[in-house]
Amino acid sequence: MAPASPAAVSAAVDSGHAPETVLVVDFGAQYAQLIARRVREARVYSEIVPSTMPVAEMLAKDPKAIILSGGPSSVYAEEAPSLDRSLFEAGVPVFGMCYGFQLMAQALGGTVDNTGGREYGRTDLSVSKPGSTLFEGTPSEQQVWMSHGDACSAAPEGFTVTASTALVPVAAFENDERKLYGVQHHPEVMHSTHGQQVLEHFLYRGAGLAPSWTTTSIVDEQVAAVRAQVGGKRAICGLSGGVDSAVAAALVQKAIGSQLTCVYVDHGLMRKGETEQVEKDFVAATGVQLKVVDASAQFLDALAGVSDPEQKRKIIGREFIRVFEQAQAELVAEAGAAGEDVAFLVQGTLYPDVVESGGGTGTANIKSHHNVGGLPEDLEFELVEPLRQLFKDEVRMVGQELGLPEEIVQRQPFPGPGLGIRIVGDVTRERLELLREADAIAREELTAAGLDRDIWQCPVVLLADVRSVGVQGDGRTYGHPIVLRPVSSEDAMTADWSRLPYDVLSRISTRITNEVREVNRVVLDITSKPPGTIEWE
Ligand code: XMP
Repeated sequence: MAPASPAAVSAAVDSGHAPETVLVVDFGAQYAQLIARRVREARVYSEIVPSTMPVAEMLAKDPKAIILSGGPSSVYAEEAPSLDRSLFEAGVPVFGMCYGFQLMAQALGGTVDNTGGREYGRTDLSVSKPGSTLFEGTPSEQQVWMSHGDACSAAPEGFTVTASTALVPVAAFENDERKLYGVQHHPEVMHSTHGQQVLEHFLYRGAGLAPSWTTTSIVDEQVAAVRAQVGGKRAICGLSGGVDSAVAAALVQKAIGSQLTCVYVDHGLMRKGETEQVEKDFVAATGVQLKVVDASAQFLDALAGVSDPEQKRKIIGREFIRVFEQAQAELVAEAGAAGEDVAFLVQGTLYPDVVESGGGTGTANIKSHHNVGGLPEDLEFELVEPLRQLFKDEVRMVGQELGLPEEIVQRQPFPGPGLGIRIVGDVTRERLELLREADAIAREELTAAGLDRDIWQCPVVLLADVRSVGVQGDGRTYGHPIVLRPVSSEDAMTADWSRLPYDVLSRISTRITNEVREVNRVVLDITSKPPGTIEWE
């Protein structure tokens, strides 16, 4: 069987179980994802589509409302993305924001002036029709976030102007009869103090949608979709110990029960207690059939004497695929005897991956093999990707709904190559032991201090090739430093170092130097990304 293309799989997953959908048309700034999230926070399902998608294709998705995002262009720029005005004739409620608002104004016969000036940042918005569909119940003066050059000076015919700013006479317009709405500002950003309310007014009052997309409904929809896709066949899922694969597996388990087998490759590079968490707690919570392959000796042998980070990643990736393929072949052989067909591979692909791979922009290869769970393309499986529509925080909520252990659901990101890339120097069993102890202490203290939700990730790194002099007890020591690398981030593309309280840092340092043999120094990494990456290797 040929592997199904992601598009075909997503179509299969979508078919017949689609919730009421709001389309967010992306005009090229980074706002579309944020808008999609805000719509979902209003408990309405949303999807992002590129502005180059023909209107007929958008309408074929049967959207219950359409939102036009902001974008960096001026509607007067030569290459500015445009929109076919037939979108406004289709009877689907539309909400334009910023650039989307100006496009709407222009397409419907209003006036957009190329002012040459710019209004940027926090701005006061005066609401002139306080009872309007968008602004009811919000203050007549409110702070909004603006970022635009052009400005609308006359609304299209049939539209009521409902707000203005000092520089923009038409900062919002509404047409209840045609269900068309627009605002010059960005309601999706936090600095627009009533933005979420305005967005919800559009969804509930303007478009008549109900807040019915909940974690329960997501689980129900996906369970039905997975059953429809897999039928009576069998599926396998590689568990990494991370949130995404755990939640994907739990959802599929709920849908097809014992037709699913999970494979967990223990590469010996996990943190303290993590393998046990998968083996015991995850299995207890889900009842999933789990095949654990202890391949730590194989990985350590392959890594012996290797200190180059890229080499390590390649080796770990290669061994991972070998072990997984072996396990998969065994499962297929076992199932074959029972006359069953292992045809499906479950993966925890998330919505940002789907959007970003659709975007098709290449990025520089800073570190190869970012995804050790990534399997070779010639595996002959059809993919089951029950999280394809979800953002990370939604995945965590679904995990909670499915009763997964808190430690798994709230787990911070952890690289596929594990502690292998947190030892600067070559990887040995002894060094892994030291790092595991130090990492466990840091995690314990951060959790005890209630800092887990403030920190995106806190790699703990062993500088195995570095030694420094210390004095411990009565004697001189010549030990290794441990680096703490706590960071805050939204998406790991950029990051800042977390300003942890000194007393927490002090406790971590004292405990590590007291309790971990051969470590006589703890240092704090205070580099943002860029220029530093989050991991040291
Ligand atoms: P960097 O170090 O590039 O990391 O700033 C960004 C995010 O990616 C994680 N990371 C990896 N994840 N395989 C993975 O699955 C890898 O090889 C890998 N390298 C880095 C890192 O933990 C951070 O969250």
